[in-house]
Amino acid sequence: MRELLLINASPRPKTSIGYCLANEMVEIVRQRKPGLIVTQRDLSEADLAPLSDEYADALTRRTPDAAPVFAASERLIRELERCDAMLIATPMHNFTLPAALKLWIDHVVRIGRTFDATPNGKVGLLGDRPVYVIVSSGGAHRGPRARQPDFLTAYMRHVLSTIGLFDVQFIYLEGLVAGEDAIKAAYEAARQRLTLEPLFAGRALA
Ligand SMILES: Cc1cc2nc3c(=O)[nH]c(=O)nc-3n(C[C@H](O)[C@H](O)[C@H](O)COP(=O)(O)O)c2cc1C
Repeated sequence: MRELLLINASPRPKTSIGYCLANEMVEIVRQRKPGLIVTQRDLSEADLAPLSDEYADALTRRTPDAAPVFAASERLIRELERCDAMLIATPMHNFTLPAALKLWIDHVVRIGRTFDATPNGKVGLLGDRPVYVIVSSGGAHRGPRARQPDFLTAYMRHVLSTIGLFDVQFIYLEGLVAGEDAIKAAYEAARQRLTLEPLFAGRALA
């Protein structure tokens, strides 16, 4: 483990519960692996431009990877290629992923670059590596407390597998709107669940 990519998709990185947990997990890995490089991609910083008409055209024309129109896409793909593991902290927004995370996906899922279209369907071009998706939500979407559908998990699993990432674990922080006690319980459960993973195994931080 040399490099870890940490992606925040919450619009409130300073107070985000999911991002806080993701940062805690990064610290656990950092303590166990001195010299670890952590690349942080905070999607709330909004320096990622919306897709342009040139970008959309370039995708349909098999444009060279080095073309200026792909500069932002290349930067994000290289971050992804370099990392040995990735952590994504994302809230659920209107039953699915936030627009900021979808925009990141539209930059990194690129035909001829991170996947190929074949007669048998799309085939990922990235090497597989562990991916952890921490999903925070105000309400519940699993089990007997569920009052809403989850269009995030199946989509994320599918789109990541399209580019070759199959080793994906989802960790849920649900019911956060219910107040401090609910937040603490959800956080602790998610934290314990994560520390069972080999990457974060061992004592959780105090
Ligand atoms: C635009 C928007 C849409 C939301 N939609 C949902 C939703 O569909 N389901 C849900 O349970 N919570 C929803 N929420 C609540 C967030 O998922 C919740 O506040 C979450 O804890 C935020 O995560 P964070 O603390 O990591 O930022 C929404 C919040 C916003 C701002």
